[in-house]
Amino acid sequence: MAVATAKIADRVVGAYRARYGGEPEGVWFAPGRVNLIGEHTDYTGGLVLPFALPVGVVVAAGRAPGEAIAVWSSQARGDAHDVREVPLRALTPGAVGGWAAYPLGMAWSLRAAGHPLSGTRLAIDADLPMGAGLSSSAALECATALALSELHGVRVARPEIAALASRAENEFVGAPTGIMDQSAALLCRAGHALLLDCRTGATEELPLNPATAGLTLLVVDTGARHALTDGRYAQRRRSCEEATRLLRVASLRDVVDADDVAGLADPELRRRARHVVTENRRVLAAAALLRRGAPGDLGPLLTESHASLRDNFEVSWRRADVAVEAALLAGAAGARMMGGGFGGSVLVLTPAAGISQVADAIAIAYARRRWPAPAVAVAAPSAGARRLR
Ligand code: GLA
Repeated sequence: MAVATAKIADRVVGAYRARYGGEPEGVWFAPGRVNLIGEHTDYTGGLVLPFALPVGVVVAAGRAPGEAIAVWSSQARGDAHDVREVPLRALTPGAVGGWAAYPLGMAWSLRAAGHPLSGTRLAIDADLPMGAGLSSSAALECATALALSELHGVRVARPEIAALASRAENEFVGAPTGIMDQSAALLCRAGHALLLDCRTGATEELPLNPATAGLTLLVVDTGARHALTDGRYAQRRRSCEEATRLLRVASLRDVVDADDVAGLADPELRRRARHVVTENRRVLAAAALLRRGAPGDLGPLLTESHASLRDNFEVSWRRADVAVEAALLAGAAGARMMGGGFGGSVLVLTPAAGISQVADAIAIAYARRRWPAPAVAVAAPSAGARRLR
């Protein structure tokens, strides 16, 4: 176990003892994710290529007498910092708000799928920033799902857990997200990216070792926070549904030639569809490079993805554009915004020898605009969710 993970596992066990008395029965971990490429394609049955981070969410859990589920998180503030206890049968969509909706929504979703649960206590901690576009929500759902299913003898395959976690997020939390983040948290393997076909559920593990090409992947947290429930994400999703209907296809995935979107009369809808169609193509091109062991050539695809998300899909934000521009000017091979958009992190592929140049260039560009310095971290493709203890 990595030192950092062991430390946070100790911390969460300590928190469990302090809140509930007694020992947890186990500790489970689910990672945050980076999406190498394939943005805003998952909910249209498209292709994505994420990998797992070494950091994530840790849950210490144990069974308890009775039929209630108790949750506590080190990340919660104010009143929300207290233990929250809810009878399992009282869990219904809309009944719980805030951070607790993620773990409690997971319990709801497992029960709604016919898996019996009984009294449980959970203590939660994380070494992953929230709202930074690194899928802290999916990590929280998936760590909770592993804990609940193991404690209560629920046998569900991981792709099915991903679907149940996604349902919790869609229906209980009310965020209309796709399946990428939960799949990444549960299915990724160290040293690999996961090619996921969101239409069929088919996966392929592709080796991702940028160091072999003298490169490093960096995650730059732009400091701008996003919320997938604020309506703009849902609006993009609706535009894709509308374009699918007007183009008379089952899914935008069926449009392979970007020129085929020319038939859409509305220029905005045309741009949205163009992004999805070209992004699916870029994922295929990126996957082909990884299959050939040529991660060094990924750069232009990342930068094209960013341009399309900025200009066609219009989900980028100023601090992301500035970080991408500064990184490229400082010698990065490629860079792009990640996740749902309107806040979060940027992914940069840079020569390993140029990490500090790139980080400095972004920090200078931010300082010039009086923005707080962004946090920059190396992103190593890591293992998916697992039991730690
Ligand atoms: C968020 C959602 C994902 C996906 C991305 C955009 O991370 O949770 O399902 O749609 O945005 O690619």
